[in-house]
Amino acid sequence: MTNDDLSRAWDRHAETYARVGAPCTGYIAQSLFHTVAGRLPSAAHMLEIACGNGELSRAAVMHCLEERKTTGTCGRVVATDFSPEMVAHAKSNLGVLGAADIVRCEVRDGQALGFEDASFDAVFSAFGIFLFPDRNAGWREAARVLRPGGLLATAVWRGPEDNALARLQMAPVMAALPERVRASLPRASWLDIASPEGLAKEVSAAGFVDPEVSVFNAVLTAPTPRAMWSMMRENPVTRSLFAACSDEELAPVERSVLSSFEELAGGADRPVRFDASCHFLVARRA
Ligand SMILES: C[S@@+](CC[C@H](N)C(=O)[O-])C[C@H]1O[C@@H](n2cnc3c(N)ncnc32)[C@H](O)[C@@H]1O
Repeated sequence: MTNDDLSRAWDRHAETYARVGAPCTGYIAQSLFHTVAGRLPSAAHMLEIACGNGELSRAAVMHCLEERKTTGTCGRVVATDFSPEMVAHAKSNLGVLGAADIVRCEVRDGQALGFEDASFDAVFSAFGIFLFPDRNAGWREAARVLRPGGLLATAVWRGPEDNALARLQMAPVMAALPERVRASLPRASWLDIASPEGLAKEVSAAGFVDPEVSVFNAVLTAPTPRAMWSMMRENPVTRSLFAACSDEELAPVERSVLSSFEELAGGADRPVRFDASCHFLVARRA
């Protein structure tokens, strides 16, 4: 899949992501921002890469508004994503904050940002860079646009052994996928950075120092089992699991997932909750 194809796939997912995904991961993204807020310089120039609906930027803008109230001056936020539809959602999400002079939203590929070198004090990416096809280009771009000593904060899911969300989503899929498809699935490349050591090593190789990795746990709530299944069918990451399935092969997968989620939820019209676990990495640009 080309980068343009990928961007269009996220465009198609933007509405569902805003409705079902962002309310789940928004709290995590905002917590990632709060993990470094106390270490930011005054009037910090901040960048969010792969912002989706802009939930992390929302916390950054609130920080700037508070700073302005207490000091009369404040930082700036640039929220970016390579999907124009995601950027449109971020624009309307952040627009209600009445902070047009503080935040701007732009379509930018995180693997080739196009900003000046050393132009930001802090760069954030929640569940963004970790899924880029060229992750190293993503970390290197983050390092390039940060001033020396500037802060990187990123969130990456933990692997299935440590993360019930990944286990509970994947188990009913794997149980029902035809053997032909299951056997041909490549190992997900982000699993290389699902461990704290793997994540710290990869980010350090791109020009960062003093990596700190911490565990962050959250409970994600989808309104119904079917809403979560729709997310999985549409999300460009999980849908790749189903790409090789015919409609006949997909029907049992859907039944398997829905019945597993309905059991967890206690009914088809009940919310389904997943214990989710990720790593927060904070590091400084060398
Ligand atoms: C799982 S969502 C995370 C969104 C948001 N950060 C959050 O925590 O809710 C992944 C986002 O990465 C964006 N994305 C994927 N590849 C990208 C790239 N090469 N450059 C910029 N954004 C990208 C997608 O458009 C999508 O909005």
